[in-house]
Amino acid sequence: MRIFLIGYMGSGKSTFGPQLAKAMDILFYDLDIEFESRFKISIHDFFRKYGEKYFREIENNLLSEIAEQDDFVLATGGGTPCYHQNMELMNHKGITLYLNVPIETLLKRLKESPRKRPVLKPFCGQENDQQLKEHLSIREPFYKQAHIILDGNSMNPAEVASQIRHQLLHLNGA
Ligand code: S3P
Repeated sequence: MRIFLIGYMGSGKSTFGPQLAKAMDILFYDLDIEFESRFKISIHDFFRKYGEKYFREIENNLLSEIAEQDDFVLATGGGTPCYHQNMELMNHKGITLYLNVPIETLLKRLKESPRKRPVLKPFCGQENDQQLKEHLSIREPFYKQAHIILDGNSMNPAEVASQIRHQLLHLNGA
């Protein structure tokens, strides 16, 4: 069973992912961590040195590679579904879950987060909340293609695991 967690930066993919993987007794991967450990460079530095276009190519390669494995939960990056037909790939290979979190929560979390996110660099500061909202609205049509849309404010790993099993039966035509 292949589970892909998608959602905007700060939606909780990397926190909820390991909990869900534990509840389902399968492996957990984090695409950003895979990237950084393979290339021995932080995503922040990679963007600075080589640019986003190259990042997206490698991200697509890594995703395609992991998607060949069998049982896992993968936390993707916030932009992953929006490039290189990745959303189609994930929907074809497994079950996609969108962690839908209200914009106010995302804004708060991202402001408090110590993590450097290169995509957010142009949006820094209170006055740019509007830009972030617009950015999310560009990405939402991709996120909303997910098989399952979760209320990111109240996610229970055991409940989500049973929702996934139900979805699998539905996809298999049972
Ligand atoms: C990105 C989100 C990041 C990381 C990269 C690009 C994005 O992952 O993949 O900085 O385009 O939204 P998180 O969603 O885990 O922050």
